[in-house]
Amino acid sequence: MSAAIQAYTLLDDDDCESRILRAREALGERLVILGHHYQRDEVFKHADFTGDSLKLSRQAASSNADYIVFCGVHFMAEVADILSRPEQVSILPDMSAGCAMADMANLQNVERAWQELSEVLDAEEMITPVTYINSAADLKGFCGEHGGIVCTSTNARHVLEWSFKQKEKVLFFPDQHLGRNTGYAMGVPLHEMVVWDYDKPRGGLSAAQIKKAKIILWKGFCSVHQMFQPEQIDNFKRKYPETKIISHPESSFEVCQKSDYVGSTEYIINTIAEAEADTRWLVATELNLVNRLHEKFKHEGKNVHFMSPSVCMCSTMFRIDPQHMAWVLENLVDGHVVNQISVPADVAEQARLALSRMLDVSP
Ligand code: 13P
Ligand code: SF4
Repeated sequence: MSAAIQAYTLLDDDDCESRILRAREALGERLVILGHHYQRDEVFKHADFTGDSLKLSRQAASSNADYIVFCGVHFMAEVADILSRPEQVSILPDMSAGCAMADMANLQNVERAWQELSEVLDAEEMITPVTYINSAADLKGFCGEHGGIVCTSTNARHVLEWSFKQKEKVLFFPDQHLGRNTGYAMGVPLHEMVVWDYDKPRGGLSAAQIKKAKIILWKGFCSVHQMFQPEQIDNFKRKYPETKIISHPESSFEVCQKSDYVGSTEYIINTIAEAEADTRWLVATELNLVNRLHEKFKHEGKNVHFMSPSVCMCSTMFRIDPQHMAWVLENLVDGHVVNQISVPADVAEQARLALSRMLDVSP
């Protein structure tokens, strides 16, 4: 019988750390631990590979390990399951590590949107559905089935370029900000992007608005990145005018417009790493990552600051803790798989199609 999580929740972090190290040693190459950049330090330090969503998807696809323990959120472990071989096992240490933004779109409300759009125009002929990787596997399956594709914050532009080669319009879900920021940077004017409010009949749009739109943006957002405001940039720059602003594209249009650089978590890290010494950075992304950047680069004289005055941590990423890691790893050592993420084969097949289209067009 597998050991229960309850006993592990009473352990302190140091105890968990030595258990994790021992389990890793015992599992050897049968185990790979993938860690997203938003993971807390006590977890992040155990990752064999770290990265943004695209980099970790590629890592999962190329891994030979029997067990892929994903220190990230649910959709990431699903992608690892979809892209790995059938006999490999994808594990999420805490099943409650979801993504609130991903949950803003589901198969029911996306299918309803597709149906309502089809009453206005020929959706199959005219619209490429694009789902941000921050979405459930069945939405990736929907995109696979309807000639659509997945994107990440790294490849959104390449994906939209591909999408417009297929059909004249895009339905982009669930993050309106990534869709709008990317569309605008490609030259799509704001008036050609409309917001689909999934709580309203026909998205709250008129038939004329839908016909005129180039990109239909789902009304989803990330509550972590929503905390960043353009005034925070103005206030900071009044004090330190030399500051470079760098933001994740899940931040609002106004914040991204005031930013010198916009890109994925991996891009943010690389940009600051490659910058000259004695530079100052104001960063709009999750707090664990910004704190890590601050520590890593302070010795080079680079000052890295968090954009918001309030704490903006991703509470679901934070659910992955040393206790859950020790629990899943010790169970693996004892031959028990706990918290496996397993996408049904029919969903996985269509989702894989949309993901492989993405991997083909990614830089
Ligand atoms: P990245 O792919 O840029 O790491 O972003 C993932 C995410 O969830 C950001 O909130
Ligand atoms: Fe989801 Fe936002 Fe957390 Fe990223 S930071 S995983 S988009 S809730």
